[in-house]
Amino acid sequence: MLNQSRMPLIEALESYDREKVIPFDVPGHKHGKGLDGFHQFLKHYGMTLDVNSMKSLDIISNPTSVIKEAEELLARAYGGDYSFFMIGGTTAAVQAMIMAGVKPGEKIILPRNAHKSALNGLILSGAVPVYIQPTINEKLGIAMGITRESLERALDENPDAKAVFIINPTYYGFTSDLAVLTELAHSRGVLVLADEAHGAHFPFNPQMPLSAMKAGCDISSVSLHKTGGSLTQSSALIMRENPYVSYPHMRGTINLSLTTSASYLLMGSLDYARQTLVTRGEKILGDLLGTVRIYREKINRIPGMYAFAREVLDGNGAMDFDETKLTINLGELKLTGYEVYDLLRERYHIQAELADDHNVLFILSLGDDEESLEPLYQALKAIGEEYHGGNKFNFIKRMKNPEGIVSPRNAYYANKKSLPLDEVVGEVSGESIMVYPPGIPIIAPGERFSQEIVDYIKFLKKQKAMMTGPEDNSLSQIKVLGM
Ligand SMILES: Cc1ncc(COP(=O)(O)O)c(C=O)c1O
Repeated sequence: MLNQSRMPLIEALESYDREKVIPFDVPGHKHGKGLDGFHQFLKHYGMTLDVNSMKSLDIISNPTSVIKEAEELLARAYGGDYSFFMIGGTTAAVQAMIMAGVKPGEKIILPRNAHKSALNGLILSGAVPVYIQPTINEKLGIAMGITRESLERALDENPDAKAVFIINPTYYGFTSDLAVLTELAHSRGVLVLADEAHGAHFPFNPQMPLSAMKAGCDISSVSLHKTGGSLTQSSALIMRENPYVSYPHMRGTINLSLTTSASYLLMGSLDYARQTLVTRGEKILGDLLGTVRIYREKINRIPGMYAFAREVLDGNGAMDFDETKLTINLGELKLTGYEVYDLLRERYHIQAELADDHNVLFILSLGDDEESLEPLYQALKAIGEEYHGGNKFNFIKRMKNPEGIVSPRNAYYANKKSLPLDEVVGEVSGESIMVYPPGIPIIAPGERFSQEIVDYIKFLKKQKAMMTGPEDNSLSQIKVLGM
């Protein structure tokens, strides 16, 4: 018998609150500290302003008054002509821009380290991917951006491509030479879409990498909830006037899957975050950068740890770097990134954003300062002293892109069977498998399993990495194409 008086989720949330976790993950407001005015607003009006659309409050799907005005302000803040409030996360924005820009069967060029929202956008739109390999920093074990040469080759080989999709920046904070890539794509008459899930703060301090609108991109998906301070799930799509996608077409595409009951608290938080970023962002981000630089130096004196920054840029695939992404490479430590991630939370109540084999990543934003960075530094120092001296896992994971056999949409709708993980080598995957975060599929629907991919999935299982995607969460059985 289930006990209906229980509230398991509420209990877990209350327990999180009691633990007094120090958040180095998203959302960027960091328990309200980074958007204090809105924190007070919510305390005051949290429930009374949880309302639905009405004449005086406009409507998100066809805004004509206050939402329209707030969207215009947001568009200008980002240097665009139009903006759309999104309340289904940046996932909804990424998928809408792909669906609006590329028709079923048409080609889109994108890096294979795109987030699952983009790869799932291919299923929804029916677009056919042309993947380009991002450059890899072998020492760090991290995928960077894409080069001009790789985009030019893809455009030469696919003159019928309709769009290019660029990540600005990657999860780890690296950007490609966005203005050059955009100019190249435009010279071939190709639409440029930017995934700026991690770039919401870029336009507000000149020390940040170039933002998509400044670089000339046509449409950008911006996660204000990640580093802009707004509430989780709230995001925006920014668009400039362009010859490929019109405002009404973009609006219509967004409306296909938009709720008719959008949360005014989420939308209000976008308005608040925009106002804060425009009026105070430069100072807040400038102060944050000053503090981060001090702590990067301190962390780099801890044995076994390396908090990299602009010195790893190569002027090509890695053109610029966002210093508010604090990633620590653990090449000289006896622990993997996954183990450090778990240790930080269990022993020090510190929540990192993500881990991979050799790295652990912390997101710093409007709500961070010395008060949050000092305990992180102390915890890392203790871990470094205890565990330095050679990485016990010599697992070099940098795999080649899996071979794409069937388009993501055709694979999604194809007949499928389940096979044990050990028997899938050579089979075409019917589902995505990824570590979340970052949510970059190790294999996506329509791609062929290699022995290397299977070995890597087994390694991740052993590491107890947070795996998602397949129907069977235990990853014992995998869906592959066939009867
Ligand atoms: C690069 C990238 N794009 C898109 C998304 C989707 O954002 P959201 O979680 O707001 O749906 C994420 C989320 O982590 C991301 O990292």
